[in-house]
Amino acid sequence: MAQLFKTRITDLFGIEHPLICGGLMWLSDANYVAASVNAGGMGFMTAKTFPDPEAFRAELQKCRELTGGKRFGVNLYLSMQPGSNDMLHTHVDIMLDEGVDIVETAGMPPQEFLGDLKSAGVIINHKVASIKHAAKAESLGVDAVTIVGAECGGHPGLDLVGTMVQTAAAAQSLTIPYIVGGGIGHGSQVAAALAMGADAVVMGSRMTVSEEIWAHRAYKDKVVEASERDTRLIMSSFRNTYRAYDNEDARSVSKLESEGVTDYEEYKPFVAGIHQKEAYTSGDWNKGVLSLGQSAVFATEVKPVADIFADILEEARLAAERLDNMRFPAAAAGQVA
Ligand SMILES: Cc1cc2nc3c(=O)[nH]c(=O)nc-3n(C[C@H](O)[C@H](O)[C@H](O)COP(=O)(O)O)c2cc1C
Repeated sequence: MAQLFKTRITDLFGIEHPLICGGLMWLSDANYVAASVNAGGMGFMTAKTFPDPEAFRAELQKCRELTGGKRFGVNLYLSMQPGSNDMLHTHVDIMLDEGVDIVETAGMPPQEFLGDLKSAGVIINHKVASIKHAAKAESLGVDAVTIVGAECGGHPGLDLVGTMVQTAAAAQSLTIPYIVGGGIGHGSQVAAALAMGADAVVMGSRMTVSEEIWAHRAYKDKVVEASERDTRLIMSSFRNTYRAYDNEDARSVSKLESEGVTDYEEYKPFVAGIHQKEAYTSGDWNKGVLSLGQSAVFATEVKPVADIFADILEEARLAAERLDNMRFPAAAAGQVA
């Protein structure tokens, strides 16, 4: 699809379309990331999906090959659990060694890694769930921020402010380029986000039905079936709010929370990350808490990334045209789409 929009993010990342595929734990491998890049957007390989450093290196090399040398990104999710980010120092060394020069950091502020990344000239895009944290990241010197709203799959933060409000409000608080997400999966939302001041959108849930995602077809079929009402917010009692597919394990977590259980050990049989991997592998979508946001409603068909992008861009083009046709002189001439 021909380039429709030129923004600070398309310029900064060197991409054609303002469509960013956020890191997806267990799912963002070389095939998926390369498909996002080859379709003209940007993708981020989740470093924590490849705990073995050499497996990570091999996956980066595979992605480089699949993109024919085009730029792609790495996602560094920084957990608040003490010690759990230590492995990422080795991953950062490998990433730099392999010539990756763009990261999506998320979770905790990325101070611990900023020095190494900046001195290597890496573009740092930090993902947060609130404008307050975005402004803090800007003050730390990151190059761009991503702000996700309450609708998003995974971690929507504690304040649960929606994407519509955050997108417009961010324009008033930030000077660096910003990407918005949370509930985005239709091109009309892309046009709206750009109109409000954003430079790109990030999508996660909408993309889980991509053909290039390795997960079992039964899981993807379930996402296709899901509406905007099929997600559940859990783990708020641990101040770690998480939006997941409304399956048996997510409901078990809600039950423990409603009973006032505070011992994390009792939650582990449901929330440990390895259960997600098992669910994606077996297709047993009732297992594990599976990140999913309200934009599941737009994921209506399993398709290659390039086709999903083409649909979204056409929808964005039509939305922009609709606005043009509504502008007073055109509307008065009866040209409303
Ligand atoms: C299945 C899934 C796994 C995710 N895993 C990660 C992750 O490992 N690291 C991360 O920073 N964000 C992760 N996210 C969040 C996405 O990168 C993205 O920010 C989010 O999905 C955008 O909101 P949306 O789900 O409404 O599109 C995940 C989201 C989903 C749906």
